[in-house]
Amino acid sequence: MASVLIIGASKGIGLETTHQLLAAGHQVRAFSRSVAESEMSHPRLEKIRGDALNRHNIDAALEGMDVVIQVLGLSSLLDLFRPVSLFSNATRVLVKAMEAKPVKRLICITGFVAGDSQASISYLQRRPFQILFGRAYADKSLQEQLIKDSSLEWTIARPGFLTNGRRTGRYKILDRASEWRNGMISRLNVADFLVRQVEDRTHLEKTPVLVC
Ligand SMILES: NC(=O)c1ccc[n+]([C@@H]2O[C@H](COP(=O)([O-])OP(=O)(O)OC[C@H]3O[C@@H](n4cnc5c(N)ncnc54)[C@H](OP(=O)(O)O)[C@@H]3O)[C@@H](O)[C@H]2O)c1
Repeated sequence: MASVLIIGASKGIGLETTHQLLAAGHQVRAFSRSVAESEMSHPRLEKIRGDALNRHNIDAALEGMDVVIQVLGLSSLLDLFRPVSLFSNATRVLVKAMEAKPVKRLICITGFVAGDSQASISYLQRRPFQILFGRAYADKSLQEQLIKDSSLEWTIARPGFLTNGRRTGRYKILDRASEWRNGMISRLNVADFLVRQVEDRTHLEKTPVLVC
């Protein structure tokens, strides 16, 4: 069983991943600015209040961990229309901190259309996507590059459109660029994929698109 740090554990995919990791028998350190206030409790769960942009907070959170899962998201929809630097700045801090410590395995969520997957979005979706998510995804692309340029043992998962549907365990893991396409996937199924990566190295140094 592994000790896993989840950065962005208070809601969404990060919260679901926390629950699934605990159910799978892992030790979990849940990290975010608000997670310490949550009522979630478990003998193998440790909740840590911290800012992913703060090197001291990250250094402390990494202590004794085997694997890191980074699942950051913007705080509000309005943030989509402002300059975005959360993903790249937090990743710069995390990569430097991990390179200085024994923990090397990093599993990160970005999204379909980040990095070289942007070439695979359909012509019709391209313009509206750019208007709504262009700033966030430019920063996610930078985030991906920082991870790829690191010496870490990374996997970058790029889910399609997220839903609050069920965990079915039935979803596509598209490793090859020729297969990349948009689609929907539930947060619970994305969490299922993340939990599997803790012990499975099949997708090491890969950037799979996840859709149903
Ligand atoms: N919506 C979609 O269709 C879609 C599609 C593909 C990819 N994605 C991406 O998937 C990711 C997860 O989305 P989600 O909706 O499941 O999660 P979310 O609700 O956006 O949760 C984001 C998490 O990040 C944490 N966070 C944000 N800033 C932080 C900071 N400075 N320090 C520490 N923690 C911080 C939040 O916790 P605190 O506020 O407590 O700090 C929260 O736990 C996002 O990157 C999103 O862009 C979304």
